[in-house]
Amino acid sequence: MNTMNTNTLSNEAIVAPAKKINLVKARGSLVWDDTGKEYIDCTAQAWSNNLGANDPRVVEAAIAQLRDMTHIRPNFGSAAHTRLVSKLREVSPASLNQMGFALHGSLAGEMAMKLAFKNNPKAQNLIVLQDGYHGRSLATLGASWPHPNNPFLPIQPRFTRVPHPYPYRTRMGMDPEAESQLCLALLEETILKGVDGAVAAIMMEPIQGNGGHIEFPRSYYKGVRDICDRHGILMIFDEVQTGFGRMGTMWAADYYDIVPDIIVFGKGVGGGFPLAGILARDDLKWFDEGEEALTFGHFPVSLAAGHATVEAIVADGLCEKARLSGEYATERLLEMRQRHPLIGDVRCPGLMVSVELVKDRTTKEPARRESQEVYRLGVERGVLFGESRYAGLGNLIKVKPPLDIERAQLSRALDVLDEIIGIIEEQRA
Ligand SMILES: Cc1ncc(COP(=O)(O)O)c(C=O)c1O
Repeated sequence: MNTMNTNTLSNEAIVAPAKKINLVKARGSLVWDDTGKEYIDCTAQAWSNNLGANDPRVVEAAIAQLRDMTHIRPNFGSAAHTRLVSKLREVSPASLNQMGFALHGSLAGEMAMKLAFKNNPKAQNLIVLQDGYHGRSLATLGASWPHPNNPFLPIQPRFTRVPHPYPYRTRMGMDPEAESQLCLALLEETILKGVDGAVAAIMMEPIQGNGGHIEFPRSYYKGVRDICDRHGILMIFDEVQTGFGRMGTMWAADYYDIVPDIIVFGKGVGGGFPLAGILARDDLKWFDEGEEALTFGHFPVSLAAGHATVEAIVADGLCEKARLSGEYATERLLEMRQRHPLIGDVRCPGLMVSVELVKDRTTKEPARRESQEVYRLGVERGVLFGESRYAGLGNLIKVKPPLDIERAQLSRALDVLDEIIGIIEEQRA
């Protein structure tokens, strides 16, 4: 039975940040530093280059837009805005046709929260999941997993955090399905008795990215949808990480066959340009003038880049490519798991790939320092692996390169991971 909590708020694991690498060039899944060293980028730069870096179609669209017009106030229309809206409608759930844009996922998350309260004016509460991550603006920080030594608490809004399933580390060794039902029961109880007043929305990542790549049993997604419907609460999917092909489908909502009321997106949509936003259910009341107005919210260069990016994701079949590459990576990692006791769990789907490192498979004690070591040794060998959380608090290695990574590059990155984990295990022996 495992009761190890990965989220213990101690500083014990915080380690000095690795030396900063100065990057000077990026193409596809490769980046180069200022010494000329080449790296395979399994981070896609914060999982944002779903389409490989500096795709010429995106660069050209941005340059063309730069020549025409760089900035407009959002209460003017633009061709870039019209084109992106209609492109996003083509690839999004049929009932989510209202859209708002921002330049950061955090602000898009706040837009979703505001829209939820706008549509539920009597509500005072917003529920989030314990290991969720929604950004670093004040409101989204409050909605995210608790930070140790957080200096911003006095001015940060508070949200109600509820427990969620964690199939690799179920509570008291429960069966994952039973834990899913327990968490749904606790969610409903919280709505009824755990908060004062009504709940406007439940905001959740379909797979928790920063919190540790935690995917829930399918019953949980359906269960949350059902609870939201029964209590008149909006369901917000934060798809900033999972959207635009990362899971092998355009949206996690497609993958789980769930239609949330609001989707928050960001990262991968911009093809390397800052772009984020929300998709909202057609019948939700939209903002009145002045309620949501960001000066650069409709930055035409980002909108044009976003249009070219989404078009390229579709034209290049990147959802399918992500699915196939993800299957390949998962198969290889599962084989490595048989040889490497440090690998506790292997998770996907699509190219939302990660391994959770543990000091001991029985206790599942998180191997945080070892994870830092994987990152460091990867850098030495020319592969950038993704870490989870920050300051050494995570024990996950993420393999989330651009969705069009070449097979030889992905294979090389996995070879390096295999070698490094072997070295760390030898050192521990
Ligand atoms: C799920 C999720 N939501 C929101 C954000 C915040 O996005 P941004 O950093 O663009 O504000 C992130 C960033 O990592 C994220 O992973």
